[in-house]
Amino acid sequence: MVCLHVYINPSIHPVISTLTTLPSPPPPPLLSQFSIFLGSVIMGKVKIGINGFGRIGRLVARVALLSDDIELVAVNDPFITTEYMTYMFKYDSVHGQWKKGEIKVKDSKTLLFGDKPVTVFGMKNPEEIPWGEAGAEYVVESTGVFTDKDKAAAHLKAVGKVLPALNGKLTGMAFRVPTVDVSVVDLTARLEKPASYDDIKAAIKAEAEGSMKGILGFTEDDVVSTDFVAGIALNNNFVKVVSWYDNEWGYSNRVVDLIRHMAKS
Ligand SMILES: NC(=O)c1ccc[n+]([C@@H]2O[C@H](COP(=O)([O-])OP(=O)(O)OC[C@H]3O[C@@H](n4cnc5c(N)ncnc54)[C@H](O)[C@@H]3O)[C@@H](O)[C@H]2O)c1
Repeated sequence: MVCLHVYINPSIHPVISTLTTLPSPPPPPLLSQFSIFLGSVIMGKVKIGINGFGRIGRLVARVALLSDDIELVAVNDPFITTEYMTYMFKYDSVHGQWKKGEIKVKDSKTLLFGDKPVTVFGMKNPEEIPWGEAGAEYVVESTGVFTDKDKAAAHLKAVGKVLPALNGKLTGMAFRVPTVDVSVVDLTARLEKPASYDDIKAAIKAEAEGSMKGILGFTEDDVVSTDFVAGIALNNNFVKVVSWYDNEWGYSNRVVDLIRHMAKS
């Protein structure tokens, strides 16, 4: 689940988000699982900050550093020293060692990714973090702490509201199985137009090789949990697709895609 709030800086025009528009000013405290703070008008690279330098925070940082159009300017985590941030960023037992460049501690308030300085804050209260001083235009909230329970529950019920065209047509669930990474999604759908199991496989394969290349994959090899996609057709109108996905790397990439999308609009 991705809960999205857009925090509107008083200095810019209100923005309508996918799920919620919050009044401005003043910007409310960070509440959601994934939040974005929108700053000044974007020119050139999109400057981002990351709140919480855990699994997701570090992977979003990796995605940012691999992207030409995104610039990581600041990180906040009150529970990790810059030395430990460096160590954990460099050595990731799931996603492998970072070999795209040096990461060093410059001082207690700065990390160096190659030659690029990144400001480090250590504040517990999101309202006190001076993201603007570091030049951050968007902040990825990846602490898992600032989640408003009621709002999150509302989002869980919100598939029909967000995608009304899908109301009553599909249901599904995802669960993280005890592997180091990956989750499985179990999607059950009643189809308007009948489709055989082979038709569905062909459609997924076509998407994997077409418009969703790099995001969706398809294999018919005999695979286990760290590999992907299985399914059954109960009949040609009622099907179940079980697909594995990399919850960490996939989520982190989609977060950055979302920032790109918002920066463009
Ligand atoms: N790990 C996954 O597979 C995954 C996938 C998708 C979404 N998510 C979501 O991403 C969020 C983060 O998950 P994670 O797995 O990276 O967690 P994590 O525990 O690895 O990281 C959380 C980080 O936040 C820091 N933190 C805690 N309180 C803080 C505060 N007040 N201010 C700043 N930093 C603080 C912690 O020190 C830690 O480094 C959660 O909301 C989770 O649901 C996780």
